[in-house]
Amino acid sequence: MIAEQTAAPTAPLDDEARRILRLNDKGGYTVPTAGLYPYQWNWDSAFAGLGFSRFDVPRAWEELETLMSGQWQNGMVPHILFHRPDPGYFPGADVWGAEGAPGKGPGRVASSGISQPPVAASFAWRIYQRDPVLGEARLRAMFPKLMAFHRWFIAARAESGAVAITHPWEAGRDNAPDWDDAMARIDPQGVAPYTRRDTGHVNPRMRPTKEDYDRYIWLVQFGRERGWDDAAIAAESPFRVADPTLTFTLMRACRDLRDAAEVLGEDTGEIEAWIAHLEAGAETLWNAEIGAYDSRDLRSGALSGVVSNASFLCWWGGLDDRRSVATLARILDAAPYSLPSFDPAHPKFDPLRYWRGPVWGVMNMIAGLGMAEQGLAEQAARVRADTARLISENGFAEYFSPEDGTPAGGATFTWTAAIWLAWASPSAAEG
Ligand code: DGY
Repeated sequence: MIAEQTAAPTAPLDDEARRILRLNDKGGYTVPTAGLYPYQWNWDSAFAGLGFSRFDVPRAWEELETLMSGQWQNGMVPHILFHRPDPGYFPGADVWGAEGAPGKGPGRVASSGISQPPVAASFAWRIYQRDPVLGEARLRAMFPKLMAFHRWFIAARAESGAVAITHPWEAGRDNAPDWDDAMARIDPQGVAPYTRRDTGHVNPRMRPTKEDYDRYIWLVQFGRERGWDDAAIAAESPFRVADPTLTFTLMRACRDLRDAAEVLGEDTGEIEAWIAHLEAGAETLWNAEIGAYDSRDLRSGALSGVVSNASFLCWWGGLDDRRSVATLARILDAAPYSLPSFDPAHPKFDPLRYWRGPVWGVMNMIAGLGMAEQGLAEQAARVRADTARLISENGFAEYFSPEDGTPAGGATFTWTAAIWLAWASPSAAEG
């Protein structure tokens, strides 16, 4: 597979990936893709920065700096920054109603009221390494903001040790089966009439269902009615699920922030305490029955009982843990293209419906890098080769069918281009 990948016409794909990043550059920030996602998304943007760092390090820093400019006074970095109004997306800033939220503070860009997987510190650290001379001042300026972001996550979301989501969009894995039971607890009565825009851009069978959307909007209304007050939402919401995506990305981001702190001569004590808290919390997500890390519904206490691609982020989190290696082997053998976002052997598996089956290059990159770091070299090579094959054969799609590689969701997608440049392309291995 590695040989096939080397033989592929690589330079034109590198050119195309760079073209996509420039195409989606709106001036200081990139959109994930035109039409479907016309604003700046938190983790998409951090991946974009990593992609830019392969050919334009100053622009990479600018991407993260624009993202951090949307940080709330309480430290939260929102999942969407609505820099310019766009009628092609729902729900917009008016639906979120975050303006005037006490946690937000005055004079900040319009935003959503929730966050997203905190990969920013991890990629700031990598962007710094591309050019430490240029990067030192930028990293130093960003360091207190990243500290405040992580401090907010620990205080507002990590009461169980593992990091909880207050909305499926916070995990990035919007319609993952992990949340099905918690979502079923919500009676979406009282949701104001709305028109979806996503299904006007993308085949509806590749997107979440109406039942999901009713609950997504119900949860937005719920947060808005509480002024996006974290304590009130934690106390009252029927939906609170501890999630491996947030837990392991924050754990890794804390380790990377600790490395940055050491280079900058900053104290690392607070960060070390966060890492220990998250490591203990991660253990509450271990599900021996499925042989993998899982999600835990913090209202019922139950584990979800499902294997997802987020299960395999434990190594990216920095855990030297072999307990899920056999489950990984089963999942790698279950479909021609790895890693499916959901277990192909499960009756809920759907190869094209967003986070219920398709392969996501961004998850593959961080899962694969973690595997490589923890000595799972063969598995890491397989995930990387499969990702390279998917992109070489099907283009820079948002996600892909693990069964036959069918490209799905949005096209000319920023983070798929970014992970190609930073990891999947043969040129990425060259340094
Ligand atoms: C969407 O609109 O589909 C996004 O995933 C929300 O973040």
